[in-house]
Amino acid sequence: MANVAADQLLDDECRIWWARPDQVPKSLLTTVVPEAEQRRAGRYRQRVDRLRSLTGAWLLRTAVARITGERPGDVLIDRTCADCGQQHGRPRLPDAVGIEVSVSHAGSLVAVALTRLGDVGVDVEHAPLIGHFDHELAENTLSARELAALSDQPGIDFPRLWVRKEALLKATGRGLRMPMSRIEVTPADRPPSLLAWPLGIPVDQVRLADLTPGQRHHAAVAVLTGAPLRVHELHADLLL
Ligand SMILES: CC(C)(COP(=O)(O)OP(=O)(O)OC[C@H]1O[C@@H](n2cnc3c(N)ncnc32)[C@H](O)[C@@H]1OP(=O)(O)O)[C@@H](O)C(=O)NCCC(=O)NCCS
Repeated sequence: MANVAADQLLDDECRIWWARPDQVPKSLLTTVVPEAEQRRAGRYRQRVDRLRSLTGAWLLRTAVARITGERPGDVLIDRTCADCGQQHGRPRLPDAVGIEVSVSHAGSLVAVALTRLGDVGVDVEHAPLIGHFDHELAENTLSARELAALSDQPGIDFPRLWVRKEALLKATGRGLRMPMSRIEVTPADRPPSLLAWPLGIPVDQVRLADLTPGQRHHAAVAVLTGAPLRVHELHADLLL
């Protein structure tokens, strides 16, 4: 974990905050996260999903407030869905703040990404069965070139490619509306970068980085920028 001042976000920085859904006291979650957002988290059927979503909402507010100096509960977050207008879409801060954000949660982790460089997408996935490979899913989500480039350990390669692609989709705000197979990234054992996609944004205007979530999780972040990117990963212990 890098040693950076958590109250400043540098111009070339992409900051990732990691939290565990069981580490934030419930009283703090419900004090910081407004009731409307608590109800939104309530749409998840499983209790663990609700807790991860609530922790993400807390982490987002607390990480932004650390930089802006606001109280976490006062941070303005717009989640208007591009499809239906409801408050369940990608989170955005007011333009004047100048910071783009993204949230992801899976397994025992919650991630929040913040950067001034451009639209950002973070994705974390839980891989409980190490090395497990779902061939049919891979055929539906990888391009022919990516399938051909899988190593003799496809169960290790595939989740790495998946999180890179989902991070890219989240950065565009389209989510899984765009088929993953239409995005092509570098092989899992190479430095991550976008090779091709059907959008008008040139591939050299997109940055991709693998993250280090720890055991049995995979994670990546994508930022729509041509500028160099410095990724700093920090743990929510610093915010409690
Ligand atoms: C965004 C999406 C890829 C998330 O996939 P996931 O792997 O299940 O979940 P993750 O944990 O990685 O991310 C969830 C977070 O992404 C954020 N998010 C929601 N919609 C998003 C979008 N379109 N783009 C980027 N981020 C989005 C939210 O903060 C959400 O967390 P929350 O529900 O706790 O607030 C998926 O929900 C999707 O494709 N959404 C768009 C399509 C859709 O459902 N549209 C609604 C039509 S009415």
